[in-house]
Amino acid sequence: MSFPTRLNAAANQVAARLDASLATLPPSAVRDAMGYALKGGKGLRGYLVLEGAALHGVARDHALNAAAAIEAMHAYSLVHDDLPAMDDDDLRRGRPTVHVAWDEPTAILAGDALQALAFELVCAPGQPNGAEMARTLARASGAAGMVLGQALDIAAETAARPLTLDEITALQAGKTGALFEWACTAGPRMADADPEALARYAGALGLAFQIADDILDTEGDASTAGKRLRKDAEAGKATFVSLLGLENARKRAETLIDAACAALEPYGTAAESLRDAARFVISRDR
Ligand code: IPE
Ligand code: IPE
Ligand code: MG
Ligand code: MG
Ligand code: MG
Repeated sequence: MSFPTRLNAAANQVAARLDASLATLPPSAVRDAMGYALKGGKGLRGYLVLEGAALHGVARDHALNAAAAIEAMHAYSLVHDDLPAMDDDDLRRGRPTVHVAWDEPTAILAGDALQALAFELVCAPGQPNGAEMARTLARASGAAGMVLGQALDIAAETAARPLTLDEITALQAGKTGALFEWACTAGPRMADADPEALARYAGALGLAFQIADDILDTEGDASTAGKRLRKDAEAGKATFVSLLGLENARKRAETLIDAACAALEPYGTAAESLRDAARFVISRDR
């Protein structure tokens, strides 16, 4: 089976878990908007949770809750990222963004509720190390992680000078890296195992992922990507592409993928699907 087929199968399982969670909520426009925001993504973070969990013998049911949690957190981050006060985007995953399909208050509240749902899932009754999983997810998504990266990204739009490569790398570590790190290390954390090797894998993977996102923004096709492109240059943003140039950005991403694969060495051939995921990250067109 090809990697995209396996990724899609995992994404469908995670989506089913999320649908079951949404079905426990009272019907409302916010619940409908949450369901809409959860659909149509690649499901990469959830896949990473499932694979890391499988490497550490975590029960599938527990792994699915953690995978659903990170996809809910990620979906919230995108709904808010697209808001007029942030990136002001009208297209996401090939469809109108939530604030366009509904309205801004509904999009804000759906994002809030997706974040709450993520915490409900990671510390659901019986989840292994629920409190620790919730604490690390809070750390990864909040003002030391994703929110910090988003804040730096927004601030960079009006900064007096373009960011340096080190500053962009730090920004990325929060904006994209923190949720990837949580996803990759959730398995060992649930199993009380050492997350170190998967954390190193995640560090390289997350950075390569963001370089690929910046390359996609520069030369991708919007109808394939399902989101508006060329926005970074329009906003005058320094990105890995603007700083390194396309060719060097591509080379940097390839080097990072080699490093990510090397970090998996302790797992031997059992981690082949994570190596496939790493290669996918820099070859994707959406
Ligand atoms: C897009 O993430 C946003 C970034 C963090 C750069 P993905 O490319 O994983 O988005 P979906 O979930 O597949 O839509
Ligand atoms: C979004 O980054 C990252 C988060 C939502 C945390 P971007 O703004 O670069 O993502 P796209 O390009 O809109 O998907
Ligand atoms: Mg953004
Ligand atoms: Mg954006
Ligand atoms: Mg982008």
